Amino acid sequence: MKVKTLILGAGAAGLMAAAHAGPDTLLVDHAKAPGEKIRISGGGRCNFTNMHCDFDNYLGANPHFHKSALTRYTQWDFIELVSKHGIAWHEKTLGQLFCDGKATQIVAMLMAELEQAGAKLWLKTNIKGVSHNGAEFSVRLEREGKSITVTANNLIVATGGKSIPKMGATGLAYDIARQFGHTVTDTRPGLVPFTFDKDRFAPISGVAVDSRITCNGTRFDEALLFTHRGLSGPAVLQISSYWHEGQEIAVNLLPTTDLESILKGKRRSDGRKSLTTELAHHLPARLVDHLAQSMDFKGNLGDLSDPRIAVLCEGLTAWQLKPSGTEGYRTAEVTLGGIDTGSLNSKTMMSKTVQGLYFIGEAVDVTGWLGGFNFQWAWSSAVAAGQAV
Ligand code: FDA
Repeated sequence: MKVKTLILGAGAAGLMAAAHAGPDTLLVDHAKAPGEKIRISGGGRCNFTNMHCDFDNYLGANPHFHKSALTRYTQWDFIELVSKHGIAWHEKTLGQLFCDGKATQIVAMLMAELEQAGAKLWLKTNIKGVSHNGAEFSVRLEREGKSITVTANNLIVATGGKSIPKMGATGLAYDIARQFGHTVTDTRPGLVPFTFDKDRFAPISGVAVDSRITCNGTRFDEALLFTHRGLSGPAVLQISSYWHEGQEIAVNLLPTTDLESILKGKRRSDGRKSLTTELAHHLPARLVDHLAQSMDFKGNLGDLSDPRIAVLCEGLTAWQLKPSGTEGYRTAEVTLGGIDTGSLNSKTMMSKTVQGLYFIGEAVDVTGWLGGFNFQWAWSSAVAAGQAV
Protein backbone atom coordinates (compact mmCIF):
# COMPACT_ATOMS: atom_id res chain seq x y z
CA MET A 1 0.00 0.00 0.00
CA LYS A 2 1.26 3.50 -0.80
CA VAL A 3 0.34 6.88 0.73
CA LYS A 4 1.80 10.35 0.43
CA THR A 5 2.09 10.79 4.21
CA LEU A 6 2.25 8.24 6.99
CA ILE A 7 1.93 9.48 10.57
CA LEU A 8 3.01 7.29 13.50
CA GLY A 9 1.07 7.94 16.75
CA ALA A 10 -2.53 9.13 17.04
CA GLY A 11 -2.06 11.28 20.13
CA ALA A 12 -2.49 15.05 20.31
CA ALA A 13 0.22 15.84 17.75
CA GLY A 14 -0.50 12.99 15.34
CA LEU A 15 -4.24 13.72 15.16
CA MET A 16 -3.61 17.42 14.56
CA ALA A 17 -0.99 16.71 11.89
CA ALA A 18 -3.38 14.32 10.11
CA ALA A 19 -6.01 17.05 10.01
CA HIS A 20 -3.55 19.28 8.13
CA ALA A 21 -1.59 16.84 5.99
CA GLY A 22 -4.11 16.38 3.17
CA PRO A 23 -6.28 13.49 1.98
CA ASP A 24 -3.57 10.95 1.07
CA THR A 25 -2.59 10.48 4.73
CA LEU A 26 -2.62 7.42 6.97
CA LEU A 27 -2.33 7.71 10.76
CA VAL A 28 -1.48 4.57 12.75
CA ASP A 29 -1.36 3.78 16.48
CA HIS A 30 -1.04 0.62 18.56
CA ALA A 31 -3.70 1.85 21.01
CA LYS A 32 -7.38 0.92 20.94
CA ALA A 33 -8.50 4.55 20.86
CA PRO A 34 -6.99 7.82 19.58
CA GLY A 35 -5.89 10.66 21.87
CA GLU A 36 -5.87 8.70 25.12
CA LYS A 37 -3.82 11.29 26.98
CA ILE A 38 -6.18 14.01 25.84
CA ARG A 39 -9.04 11.97 27.29
CA ILE A 40 -7.50 11.76 30.77
CA SER A 41 -5.90 15.21 30.77
CA GLY A 42 -6.93 18.07 33.00
CA GLY A 43 -8.91 15.78 35.30
CA GLY A 44 -11.04 14.68 32.31
CA ARG A 45 -11.64 18.24 31.05
CA CYS A 46 -8.41 18.76 29.08
CA ASN A 47 -6.42 21.91 29.72
CA PHE A 48 -6.08 22.32 25.96
CA THR A 49 -4.07 25.56 25.81
CA ASN A 50 -3.07 28.62 27.79
CA MET A 51 -4.11 32.19 26.99
CA HIS A 52 -0.73 33.49 28.15
CA CYS A 53 1.30 31.03 26.08
CA ASP A 54 4.74 32.55 25.60
CA PHE A 55 8.18 31.35 24.52
CA ASP A 56 9.42 31.50 28.14
CA ASN A 57 6.99 28.76 29.14
CA TYR A 58 9.13 26.12 27.46
CA LEU A 59 12.36 24.24 28.29
CA GLY A 60 14.78 22.68 25.82
CA ALA A 61 18.44 22.77 24.84
CA ASN A 62 17.70 25.42 22.18
CA PRO A 63 15.58 28.17 23.79
CA HIS A 64 14.56 29.50 20.34
CA PHE A 65 13.55 26.34 18.46
CA HIS A 66 9.87 26.35 19.49
CA LYS A 67 9.27 30.00 18.58
CA SER A 68 8.56 29.55 14.89
CA ALA A 69 5.84 26.88 15.20
CA LEU A 70 4.23 28.58 18.21
CA THR A 71 4.12 31.89 16.35
CA ARG A 72 2.52 30.45 13.24
CA TYR A 73 -0.14 28.40 15.04
CA THR A 74 -1.00 30.12 18.29
CA GLN A 75 -3.28 29.50 21.25
CA TRP A 76 -5.80 31.84 19.58
CA ASP A 77 -5.89 29.61 16.50
CA PHE A 78 -6.66 26.59 18.66
CA ILE A 79 -9.29 28.50 20.66
CA GLU A 80 -10.93 29.45 17.36
CA LEU A 81 -10.99 25.79 16.31
CA VAL A 82 -12.52 24.72 19.63
CA SER A 83 -15.15 27.45 19.37
CA LYS A 84 -15.89 26.56 15.72
CA HIS A 85 -16.80 23.07 16.95
CA GLY A 86 -19.16 24.53 19.54
CA ILE A 87 -17.11 23.27 22.48
CA ALA A 88 -17.76 25.41 25.56
CA TRP A 89 -14.68 26.28 27.59
CA HIS A 90 -13.58 28.38 30.55
CA GLU A 91 -10.43 29.80 32.10
CA LYS A 92 -9.68 28.02 35.36
CA THR A 93 -6.69 30.00 36.59
CA LEU A 94 -3.50 31.57 35.19
CA GLY A 95 -4.81 31.54 31.61
CA GLN A 96 -5.43 27.75 31.66
CA LEU A 97 -8.35 26.86 29.37
CA PHE A 98 -10.47 23.77 30.03
CA CYS A 99 -13.56 22.26 28.40
CA ASP A 100 -16.77 22.95 30.33
CA GLY A 101 -17.76 19.40 29.42
CA LYS A 102 -15.45 16.46 28.73
CA ALA A 103 -11.95 16.14 27.29
CA THR A 104 -13.35 13.61 24.82
CA GLN A 105 -14.92 16.58 23.00
CA ILE A 106 -11.40 17.59 21.96
CA VAL A 107 -10.69 14.07 20.67
CA ALA A 108 -14.01 14.10 18.76
CA MET A 109 -13.15 17.52 17.32
CA LEU A 110 -9.76 16.30 16.07
CA MET A 111 -11.35 13.16 14.62
CA ALA A 112 -13.93 15.30 12.77
CA GLU A 113 -11.12 17.49 11.37
CA LEU A 114 -9.14 14.42 10.33
CA GLU A 115 -12.15 12.90 8.56
CA GLN A 116 -12.93 16.18 6.84
CA ALA A 117 -9.35 16.32 5.58
CA GLY A 118 -9.80 12.82 4.13
CA ALA A 119 -7.09 11.18 6.25
CA LYS A 120 -7.45 7.58 7.47
CA LEU A 121 -6.83 6.20 10.97
CA TRP A 122 -5.74 2.66 11.76
CA LEU A 123 -5.81 1.72 15.45
CA LYS A 124 -4.49 -1.46 17.10
CA THR A 125 -1.65 -1.40 14.58
CA ASN A 126 1.87 -2.36 15.62
CA ILE A 127 4.88 -0.71 14.04
CA LYS A 128 7.48 -3.38 13.27
CA GLY A 129 10.18 -1.41 11.47
CA VAL A 130 10.99 1.61 9.32
CA SER A 131 13.35 1.86 6.35
CA HIS A 132 14.16 4.44 3.69
CA ASN A 133 15.50 3.85 0.20
CA GLY A 134 16.57 7.43 -0.41
CA ALA A 135 13.24 8.43 -1.93
CA GLU A 136 10.51 6.65 0.04
CA PHE A 137 9.90 5.29 3.52
CA SER A 138 8.72 1.72 4.01
CA VAL A 139 7.03 0.94 7.30
CA ARG A 140 6.21 -2.62 8.28
CA LEU A 141 2.95 -2.79 10.20
CA GLU A 142 1.02 -5.59 11.86
CA ARG A 143 -2.73 -5.26 11.86
CA GLU A 144 -5.44 -7.80 12.61
CA GLY A 145 -2.78 -10.52 12.60
CA LYS A 146 -1.49 -9.54 9.13
CA SER A 147 1.76 -7.94 8.04
CA ILE A 148 1.36 -4.88 5.83
CA THR A 149 4.08 -2.70 4.35
CA VAL A 150 3.12 0.91 3.73
CA THR A 151 5.33 3.11 1.59
CA ALA A 152 5.19 6.86 1.99
CA ASN A 153 6.94 9.97 0.69
CA ASN A 154 6.66 11.60 4.10
CA LEU A 155 6.92 10.04 7.53
CA ILE A 156 5.75 12.09 10.52
CA VAL A 157 6.79 10.58 13.85
CA ALA A 158 4.37 11.58 16.62
CA THR A 159 4.67 8.71 19.08
CA GLY A 160 5.34 10.98 22.08
CA GLY A 161 7.72 10.54 24.99
CA LYS A 162 8.17 8.01 27.77
CA SER A 163 5.65 9.29 30.30
CA ILE A 164 3.02 6.83 31.50
CA PRO A 165 4.08 3.57 29.84
CA LYS A 166 0.80 2.03 31.06
CA MET A 167 -0.97 4.30 28.56
CA GLY A 168 1.10 3.01 25.66
CA ALA A 169 4.12 5.34 25.80
CA THR A 170 7.22 3.81 24.20
CA GLY A 171 10.60 5.12 23.15
CA LEU A 172 9.80 4.47 19.46
CA ALA A 173 10.33 8.07 18.31
CA TYR A 174 13.82 8.08 19.85
CA ASP A 175 14.69 4.74 18.22
CA ILE A 176 13.59 6.00 14.79
CA ALA A 177 15.50 9.26 15.32
CA ARG A 178 18.70 7.36 16.18
CA GLN A 179 18.20 4.98 13.28
CA PHE A 180 18.28 7.98 10.92
CA GLY A 181 21.37 9.50 12.54
CA HIS A 182 19.67 12.01 14.84
CA THR A 183 20.88 12.67 18.37
CA VAL A 184 18.53 12.18 21.32
CA THR A 185 19.33 14.31 24.36
CA ASP A 186 19.09 12.80 27.85
CA THR A 187 15.47 12.30 28.84
CA ARG A 188 13.97 12.49 32.33
CA PRO A 189 10.48 12.75 33.82
CA GLY A 190 8.99 16.26 34.05
CA LEU A 191 5.90 17.70 35.77
CA VAL A 192 6.21 14.94 38.34
CA PRO A 193 5.80 14.68 42.15
CA PHE A 194 8.88 14.47 44.40
CA THR A 195 9.52 11.55 46.72
CA PHE A 196 11.28 11.73 50.11
CA ASP A 197 12.96 9.06 52.21
CA LYS A 198 11.00 7.34 54.96
CA ASP A 199 7.66 8.76 53.79
CA ARG A 200 8.70 11.94 55.60
CA PHE A 201 5.46 13.82 54.94
CA ALA A 202 3.06 10.92 55.41
CA PRO A 203 1.74 12.37 58.72
CA ILE A 204 0.60 15.53 56.92
CA SER A 205 -0.51 13.86 53.72
CA GLY A 206 -3.38 15.86 52.20
CA VAL A 207 -2.30 19.25 53.62
CA ALA A 208 -2.08 21.97 50.92
CA VAL A 209 -0.57 25.46 51.16
CA ASP A 210 0.15 28.35 48.83
CA SER A 211 3.89 28.34 48.25
CA ARG A 212 6.80 29.75 46.33
CA ILE A 213 9.28 27.06 45.29
CA THR A 214 12.69 27.92 43.88
CA CYS A 215 15.31 25.72 42.20
CA ASN A 216 18.18 26.60 39.87
CA GLY A 217 17.09 30.25 39.64
CA THR A 218 13.49 29.50 38.60
CA ARG A 219 10.52 29.91 40.90
CA PHE A 220 6.81 29.16 40.87
CA ASP A 221 4.09 30.63 43.08
CA GLU A 222 1.36 28.01 43.26
CA ALA A 223 -0.10 25.41 45.59
CA LEU A 224 2.02 22.72 47.25
CA LEU A 225 0.48 19.45 48.43
CA PHE A 226 2.06 17.14 51.00
CA THR A 227 1.53 13.50 50.04
CA HIS A 228 2.19 10.14 51.60
CA ARG A 229 5.33 9.68 49.50
CA GLY A 230 6.49 13.30 49.25
CA LEU A 231 5.40 16.55 47.61
CA SER A 232 3.00 17.28 44.78
CA GLY A 233 0.69 20.10 43.66
CA PRO A 234 1.19 22.57 40.80
CA ALA A 235 4.21 24.41 42.27
CA VAL A 236 6.02 21.10 42.82
CA LEU A 237 5.17 19.69 39.38
CA GLN A 238 6.41 22.92 37.76
CA ILE A 239 9.70 23.06 39.65
CA SER A 240 10.35 19.33 39.09
CA SER A 241 11.15 20.17 35.45
CA TYR A 242 14.01 22.41 36.62
CA TRP A 243 15.33 20.04 39.32
CA HIS A 244 18.17 17.55 38.90
CA GLU A 245 18.92 14.48 41.02
CA GLY A 246 20.66 15.37 44.29
CA GLN A 247 19.68 19.06 44.31
CA GLU A 248 17.78 20.95 47.00
CA ILE A 249 14.65 23.04 46.51
CA ALA A 250 13.79 26.11 48.59
CA VAL A 251 10.19 26.29 49.78
CA ASN A 252 8.58 29.52 50.97
CA LEU A 253 5.47 28.51 52.93
CA LEU A 254 4.39 32.13 53.41
CA PRO A 255 5.03 33.86 50.06
CA THR A 256 2.50 36.64 50.64
CA THR A 257 2.80 37.10 54.42
CA ASP A 258 5.31 39.41 56.14
CA LEU A 259 5.71 37.07 59.12
CA GLU A 260 8.59 39.03 60.62
CA SER A 261 6.53 42.24 60.96
CA ILE A 262 3.54 40.29 62.26
CA LEU A 263 5.55 38.50 64.96
CA LYS A 264 7.32 41.71 66.02
CA GLY A 265 4.00 43.58 66.23
CA LYS A 266 2.18 40.81 68.14
CA ARG A 267 5.13 40.34 70.49
CA ARG A 268 4.12 43.72 71.92
CA SER A 269 0.32 43.56 71.54
CA ASP A 270 -0.31 39.85 72.19
CA GLY A 271 2.74 38.62 74.10
CA ARG A 272 0.95 35.85 76.01
CA LYS A 273 -0.28 34.09 72.89
CA SER A 274 1.64 30.92 72.02
CA LEU A 275 3.76 30.92 68.87
CA THR A 276 2.00 27.82 67.51
CA THR A 277 -1.44 29.47 67.91
CA GLU A 278 -0.24 32.50 65.98
CA LEU A 279 1.38 30.40 63.23
CA ALA A 280 -1.84 28.41 62.85
CA HIS A 281 -3.50 31.66 61.70
CA HIS A 282 -1.17 31.70 58.70
CA LEU A 283 -0.57 28.00 57.98
CA PRO A 284 -2.65 24.81 58.31
CA ALA A 285 -2.60 23.67 61.97
CA ARG A 286 -1.48 20.13 61.00
CA LEU A 287 1.55 21.59 59.23
CA VAL A 288 2.42 23.81 62.21
CA ASP A 289 2.22 20.78 64.53
CA HIS A 290 4.38 18.75 62.19
CA LEU A 291 7.06 21.43 61.95
CA ALA A 292 6.94 22.37 65.64
CA GLN A 293 9.73 20.09 66.74
CA SER A 294 12.18 20.47 63.86
CA MET A 295 11.71 24.25 63.73
CA ASP A 296 11.45 24.67 67.51
CA PHE A 297 8.06 26.45 67.75
CA LYS A 298 8.22 26.84 71.56
CA GLY A 299 6.97 29.49 73.95
CA ASN A 300 4.88 32.65 73.70
CA LEU A 301 5.16 35.57 71.31
CA GLY A 302 6.41 37.81 74.11
CA ASP A 303 9.47 35.56 74.56
CA LEU A 304 10.69 35.92 70.99
CA SER A 305 13.96 37.80 70.45
CA ASP A 306 14.77 39.46 67.13
CA PRO A 307 17.35 36.81 66.19
CA ARG A 308 14.87 34.05 67.08
CA ILE A 309 12.21 35.66 64.86
CA ALA A 310 14.75 35.90 62.04
CA VAL A 311 15.58 32.17 62.33
CA LEU A 312 11.88 31.23 62.42
CA CYS A 313 11.10 33.31 59.35
CA GLU A 314 14.09 31.91 57.50
CA GLY A 315 12.91 28.38 58.31
CA LEU A 316 9.41 28.99 57.00
CA THR A 317 10.26 31.10 53.96
CA ALA A 318 13.47 29.40 52.78
CA TRP A 319 12.88 25.81 53.85
CA GLN A 320 15.61 23.74 52.18
CA LEU A 321 14.43 20.31 51.14
CA LYS A 322 16.30 17.58 49.28
CA PRO A 323 13.97 15.20 47.43
CA SER A 324 15.25 11.65 47.19
CA GLY A 325 13.79 11.39 43.70
CA THR A 326 10.60 11.68 41.69
CA GLU A 327 7.68 9.36 40.98
CA GLY A 328 9.28 8.83 37.56
CA TYR A 329 7.67 8.15 34.20
CA ARG A 330 4.91 6.19 35.95
CA THR A 331 3.12 9.47 36.75
CA ALA A 332 5.13 12.20 34.97
CA GLU A 333 2.98 14.37 32.72
CA VAL A 334 5.81 14.89 30.26
CA THR A 335 9.27 13.78 29.19
CA LEU A 336 12.02 16.37 29.36
CA GLY A 337 14.67 16.20 26.63
CA GLY A 338 14.21 14.15 23.49
CA ILE A 339 15.07 14.47 19.82
CA ASP A 340 17.77 17.09 19.44
CA THR A 341 16.30 20.19 17.79
CA GLY A 342 19.66 21.06 16.23
CA SER A 343 18.98 18.66 13.38
CA LEU A 344 15.34 19.68 12.78
CA ASN A 345 13.99 22.60 10.75
CA SER A 346 12.03 24.76 13.20
CA LYS A 347 9.59 25.97 10.52
CA THR A 348 8.59 22.54 9.24
CA MET A 349 9.86 20.09 11.90
CA MET A 350 11.55 18.17 9.08
CA SER A 351 14.89 16.46 9.57
CA LYS A 352 17.75 18.51 8.14
CA THR A 353 19.41 15.32 6.92
CA VAL A 354 16.58 13.02 5.78
CA GLN A 355 14.14 14.54 3.29
CA GLY A 356 10.51 13.81 4.25
CA LEU A 357 11.17 12.70 7.86
CA TYR A 358 9.41 14.79 10.53
CA PHE A 359 9.30 14.68 14.34
CA ILE A 360 6.59 16.49 16.30
CA GLY A 361 5.06 16.78 19.79
CA GLU A 362 6.52 15.50 23.02
CA ALA A 363 9.17 13.34 21.32
CA VAL A 364 11.09 16.52 20.45
CA ASP A 365 13.31 18.28 23.01
CA VAL A 366 10.70 20.98 23.75
CA THR A 367 8.81 20.74 27.05
CA GLY A 368 6.17 23.12 28.32
CA TRP A 369 5.16 24.19 31.79
CA LEU A 370 2.06 22.82 33.45
CA GLY A 371 -1.07 24.66 32.28
CA GLY A 372 -1.90 23.76 28.67
CA PHE A 373 1.52 24.57 27.21
CA ASN A 374 2.35 20.99 26.25
CA PHE A 375 -0.81 20.53 24.23
CA GLN A 376 -0.17 23.89 22.55
CA TRP A 377 3.28 22.61 21.51
CA ALA A 378 1.66 19.42 20.18
CA TRP A 379 -0.87 21.46 18.13
CA SER A 380 1.68 23.99 16.84
CA SER A 381 4.43 21.52 15.91
CA ALA A 382 1.80 19.29 14.25
CA VAL A 383 0.41 22.10 12.12
CA ALA A 384 3.96 23.06 11.08
CA ALA A 385 4.65 19.51 9.81
CA GLY A 386 1.13 18.90 8.48
CA GLN A 387 1.27 22.02 6.33
CA ALA A 388 4.80 21.29 5.14
CA VAL A 389 4.23 17.81 3.71
P1 FDA B 1 0.95 11.47 22.97
O1 FDA B 1 1.55 10.72 24.09
O2 FDA B 1 -0.28 12.25 23.18
O3 FDA B 1 0.65 10.49 21.74
C1 FDA B 1 1.55 9.49 21.33
C2 FDA B 1 0.76 8.41 20.63
O4 FDA B 1 1.68 7.48 20.06
C3 FDA B 1 -0.13 7.62 21.58
O5 FDA B 1 -1.43 7.53 21.04
C4 FDA B 1 0.53 6.24 21.67
O6 FDA B 1 -0.41 5.17 21.80
C5 FDA B 1 1.26 6.17 20.33
N1 FDA B 1 2.44 5.31 20.39
C6 FDA B 1 3.49 5.39 21.24
N2 FDA B 1 4.37 4.42 20.97
C7 FDA B 1 3.87 3.70 19.92
C8 FDA B 1 4.32 2.56 19.20
N3 FDA B 1 5.47 1.95 19.53
N4 FDA B 1 3.55 2.08 18.21
C9 FDA B 1 2.37 2.69 17.89
N5 FDA B 1 1.89 3.78 18.53
C10 FDA B 1 2.64 4.27 19.54
N6 FDA B 1 -0.75 18.74 28.67
C11 FDA B 1 -1.46 19.89 28.61
O7 FDA B 1 -1.08 20.79 27.86
N7 FDA B 1 -2.60 20.03 29.36
C12 FDA B 1 -3.06 19.06 30.18
O8 FDA B 1 -4.14 19.18 30.80
C13 FDA B 1 -2.28 17.88 30.30
N8 FDA B 1 -2.65 16.90 31.17
C14 FDA B 1 -1.95 15.72 31.21
C15 FDA B 1 -2.34 14.73 32.10
C16 FDA B 1 -1.63 13.54 32.15
C17 FDA B 1 -2.04 12.48 33.13
C18 FDA B 1 -0.52 13.33 31.28
C19 FDA B 1 0.25 12.04 31.28
C20 FDA B 1 -0.12 14.34 30.40
C21 FDA B 1 -0.81 15.56 30.37
N9 FDA B 1 -0.42 16.57 29.52
C22 FDA B 1 -1.14 17.74 29.49
C23 FDA B 1 0.71 16.41 28.58
C24 FDA B 1 0.16 16.01 27.19
O9 FDA B 1 -0.71 14.91 27.34
C25 FDA B 1 1.30 15.66 26.25
O10 FDA B 1 2.22 16.73 26.20
C26 FDA B 1 0.76 15.41 24.84
O11 FDA B 1 -0.19 14.36 24.87
C27 FDA B 1 1.88 15.06 23.87
O12 FDA B 1 1.32 14.79 22.62
P2 FDA B 1 2.01 13.78 21.61
O13 FDA B 1 1.04 13.60 20.50
O14 FDA B 1 3.38 14.20 21.31
O15 FDA B 1 2.13 12.41 22.42
